[in-house]
Amino acid sequence: MNQSWDPKLYSRDAAFVPSYGVDLLSMLDPAEGRSILDLGCGEGTLTEKLLSLGWTVTGIDSSEEQVRAAVTRGISAKVMDAENLQFDETFDCVISNAALHWMKKPEKVLDGVWKALKVGGTFIGEMGAYGNVESVVQAANNILVERGFEPDQFNPWYFPSLDEYSELLLARGFIISSIQAFNRPTELPGDILDWLTIFAQSFATPLRNSEKKDFYCEMRERLKKPLLSDEEKWIVDYVRLRFKVARLV
Ligand code: BEZ
Repeated sequence: MNQSWDPKLYSRDAAFVPSYGVDLLSMLDPAEGRSILDLGCGEGTLTEKLLSLGWTVTGIDSSEEQVRAAVTRGISAKVMDAENLQFDETFDCVISNAALHWMKKPEKVLDGVWKALKVGGTFIGEMGAYGNVESVVQAANNILVERGFEPDQFNPWYFPSLDEYSELLLARGFIISSIQAFNRPTELPGDILDWLTIFAQSFATPLRNSEKKDFYCEMRERLKKPLLSDEEKWIVDYVRLRFKVARLV
């Protein structure tokens, strides 16, 4: 997957991502323990909130740049592939906000989370669900097809349905306390070009660098109809999957 992260741009144009993640914090029960793994911690905004709530937090992320930014904030974070988690210790809890949909091998992720949890530990997550940012995926696919490319290989996202992900969780042995899928139309703080430049890089993989800006602009044009409101606000068709599960054996 062709995706890089710029922590400064992320903090400026995607601060709403960790802000929405705060909802997950209310699903944590301090009585369930104190040690927590933040899976896909990014530049550490949510991780910092966990620290301030008294949790002993370890963050992991696949992006060196994001981990460096998190460490600069005083967070214990390291670069690690979530599809190949490697820990000597185990945690009371694993939390993940807006990261699991970047991981296309969910069985491997769930296996690693299972092994990283103590018996009795909980896993709380939120990710894109089936249909998430469908307008964006459609626009990217259509443009790539028109330019002679087969688009599926450039789609970096995994957005499972509630039934699909429930089955994976149960198959790994988790007990599901709660799981829900819901629409969350999400207003962007600025122009959708900023969002596309941060999040949709993988779709531009087959293009020359000199063609990428034009590709994002073409996407922007096509997204006006479904996503630009009468008040000139970009409202993206997010659909979320949120769950809390436990490892009991
Ligand atoms: C999400 O949080 O759902 C998301 C973020 C970036 C790209 C696609 C989806």
